[in-house]
Order: sequence, then C-alpha cells, then structure tokens
Amino acid sequence: MVSRRGVLVGGAVVVAGLFGRPASAEGPAVDPFTLGIASGDPTPDGFVIWTRLAVSPMAEDGLGGMADRAYEVWWQVAHDEHFTRLAASGMSWAEPSWAHSVHVEPRGLEPGREYFYRFGVDRWTSPTGRTRTAPSRATLPTSLELAFLSCAQYEHGFFTGYRRIAESEPELIVHLGDYVYEYAAGVYNAPSGNVRDHAGPETQTLADYRQRFAQYKLDPDLQAAHAVAPWAVVFDDHEVDNNWAGPVPERPNPRFERRRTAAMRAYWENMPLRNARQPRGTVLPLHRRVRWGQLATFHLLDTRQYRDDQGCGDGYRDCPAASDPARSILGAAQEKWLLEGLRRSGATWDVLAQQVFFAQRDRDPGPVLSTSQDAWDGYAASRRRVVQGWLDAKVRNAVVLTGDVHAHWAADVKLDFADPHAPVVGSELICTSLTTGGDGADSDPATHPFLGHNKHLRFYNGQRGYVRATVTPAELSADFMTLPYVHRAGAPAQRKAGFVIADGVPGLQRRYLRPFAGPQSLSPQDQADHTVWAETERP
Ligand SMILES: [Fe+2]
Repeated sequence: MVSRRGVLVGGAVVVAGLFGRPASAEGPAVDPFTLGIASGDPTPDGFVIWTRLAVSPMAEDGLGGMADRAYEVWWQVAHDEHFTRLAASGMSWAEPSWAHSVHVEPRGLEPGREYFYRFGVDRWTSPTGRTRTAPSRATLPTSLELAFLSCAQYEHGFFTGYRRIAESEPELIVHLGDYVYEYAAGVYNAPSGNVRDHAGPETQTLADYRQRFAQYKLDPDLQAAHAVAPWAVVFDDHEVDNNWAGPVPERPNPRFERRRTAAMRAYWENMPLRNARQPRGTVLPLHRRVRWGQLATFHLLDTRQYRDDQGCGDGYRDCPAASDPARSILGAAQEKWLLEGLRRSGATWDVLAQQVFFAQRDRDPGPVLSTSQDAWDGYAASRRRVVQGWLDAKVRNAVVLTGDVHAHWAADVKLDFADPHAPVVGSELICTSLTTGGDGADSDPATHPFLGHNKHLRFYNGQRGYVRATVTPAELSADFMTLPYVHRAGAPAQRKAGFVIADGVPGLQRRYLRPFAGPQSLSPQDQADHTVWAETERP
C-alpha cells in the first residue's frame, strides 16, 4: 500500500518528468472542490472518475477562478470509504484548456464490486464518491438496481429527485439528457412559477456553458446523486439548443457551429465521460455500450448529432417525410453499429437508453396521424429498421428507456403500430422530468386523451420524478417514482405505478397503480410522514 504522501511525491516527480511540465507553484487558497465528484461508464476492470477545480465556480469567464495554468491533482481508489486499502492511485493534471476538469480511468480493478474514490490538490481533499465496476462479461449477475431520469431544469424546481435517487442507492444511474438547460433567467417558466434563476445569458459561448454547468453542479442534491453510483450519460437537445438536429439549430444561427463546439466541449468537461469521448470540433462521440455481464447490455444512443432535420418544420404533423426510408434519427453509421451490437450482445436484456419517444404517439383520435416530428415518430422508417433489427437478431428482451417528454409513460412496442393485431415485440419505459415543468399534477391515466386511441400506451403521469428498476434474469421490474411538488425542497418520492417485463414475454405487465389522488399536493402531515423515501410503500 502506498501512503498518500508517497503517491504525491513519487507521482509528481514521475509525471513532471514525463511531460516536462513545471510542478504547480502554489495550491489554491480556498477549497477548489466546489463542483463535487462523479464517476461513470463502468467496465469489469474500471470506470472513469471525474472532478473539476473551481474556487470561484460562478466566474463569468467560465474558468472557476482558477489560475491560467495546470494543477497537479492526486487521486485514489480504495476498497473502503476510509481509504485504508487502496486499489489504485496516481497523479493527473487539471488543464485550463479543459476548464480544470480531471478525467481519470483507473484500470486493473476487480469486476462487480464497490469502490470509493477521491481527489486532492495541495492541502485540499475532495468529497468521497462511491462507484463500482461492472460484473465480468462471463457472469450472470443475480440483479442490477438501476435509476434513470432526464430533464432537470434548474429554475423549475429543486433537485430533491436527485436526493431521493441517492438515498435509494442504485448501482447504476442513467441520465437520458437535458442535464442543463440553455435559457437565460426567466425565459422558460414553469406553470407553477420558477423557484430560482439561471445565471448568465442564454448559453452560446464556451464561457457561458462552463458557467451554466458550474451553477447546476453546485447543487448539493445533484452532487449527492453523482457521489452514490456510476452514471451513464447521454445528452439530448438542451445541452446545446432546443430541438437541434445535427448542423441545424432551432432557429437560423450563422454561429451554430461555434455554439455546438462550445456545448460539446463543456459537456465533456463536466461529465464522467472517458477520454475517448473527448470532442473534436462539433463532434462528441457519444454512442457507446455499458455491459452488465450477461444480464444487460446498455446501448447508449445519440439521437441528436447525426439525425436528419425534423420533417415538415417540426411539431405535431402528419408528415410524409416521417416515413421516408432515406431519413434516419441515428444516422446510417450509428444505426449499423446498433444493429451489429444487438446481434452480438447475447445479454438477457438489451436496453436502448436514449432521448426521445420511441413508440408511436398519435395526437389525433381520428384517422389522421398527428405525431411529433422531433421523436422517433418523425423517423418511422428508422424506427422500423431498429425494431426489425432486434427481431432479426433474436434479441431476447428489448427495452427502450426514454426521457424528453416531461411525463411518465409506459408503452408496448410493435413493429407496425398501424396494425391493431401486430404482436408486441418490446417495451418502452419513459421517465418524467426531474423538475422541468414545475410541480405538475397527479393525473388519472384512464382519462388521458392519447391512451384511448393509442392502445399500446399503457400509463401516463404528469408529476415530476424518475424511474427505479430492478433487473434480474427472470424479470425487469420498474417503479415510476413521483414527487408531489418540486417548488419547495424536501418532497417525498412515492411509487406511483409499477410494471414488470418477464423474461421472454415482450410487453408490460402492470403490477400496481396507486389510486388517483386528485391534483392536490400532500397534506402537511403526509409531508412530515414521508420526508424519507419509505421502502414499506411497495404494495
Ligand atoms: Fe427536457
């Protein structure tokens, strides 16, 4: 075992010698670990651990008040939270050109186990994070505890949902996009009113995006969720610009290439992504896989960078371009990559973790098809190729995870949604937003207008929350968690509905549905009774 002093001195000499850089002159005068720590993308022998130094995180130049030079950062990975048994350690550099972020990829760790990690610079030590390696490829783990979420507009609500996720101690957290929003303060308002303001203008420059990420990352509930488990992240639109499509911005913008370049760079700098994901120009190679032994393969998709522009001017339309086989939401290369990966996976569960609604969602009760051109409905031929691909590959269980729509939904997936007799061939679990849209309201799924004429849509709820899932060789069980309010901190998380997908049986089986309670928030007594997420709530 190497003592921390030994790591510091030995590592500093080696690193400085290798790269010929001067050792840091003076350390920061105040704690630079204001933005927390994070980990992600676990493999059987490692993961990436992340931090970003910022003594003055809200500095308008985006550089967090750090000097314009590299800082030496030590890191440790240990078997225990007191760091008495180190598993790996070393030195890294926090460079000003990457906003003093640190992305370290420890290797040679043991599969399928928990680790603790931390960083240090000069006399400052970061908070401790907990993470884990993925199980080895050959094993079939007995279970995986998963949480997934999307859409955390900072102004629309407090990040209590992140706190509740942390308290439930999942083994893996999947973030499906809209981790930050681009708007200036007060431009995008929740119906229940905004509870806090974005700093800075609508994000356009690298400094803007860096400052915006810093503002979000200062939130203690967000930091708690990062500290509890490894994350697998994908971005959606608001990390760049509402409803962008490859080179096409929402509204004409001659500087959009520069904006994308800045947004991609800031996203990588602020996320637990591996060095192989570092952006070049406008492109951040986001699509990748996380494997959980033989139990699950997560195909993390990118439905923004390579898509064709939305048809018919976007919005809900009956749009001929939607069924044009020449158009794709993934782009040809990623589509091929996905289909090959489905053929090779061999996992019990193949999970497509992605951004926008996958199943058909027709807004018109009559014969007209009115669907969202920003979702897979706007790229129906692309969707059909993916579903046909998993059928051809004889994928054992295909499950799509989705964010974006700011409501909980659950859907059975078909190859042909127009045919009422078409068999169910997969399932989709759509998580509501963590905060976007404000409090929302409890809703009776029986009365939602879409559910009457979209029979494959099985559940809807308009509150805020996230989804918890337990994946085993026998079933995937999902709990749709809701928070009765986000305009104040401290809401309890409640199980609103539960669905099960049985191994080898495509489609959703409802396990429970909490009765519609009316659109009111909990009474003060209920709030007092539920301040901690209660395991006993499970029916
Ligand atoms: Fe969103």
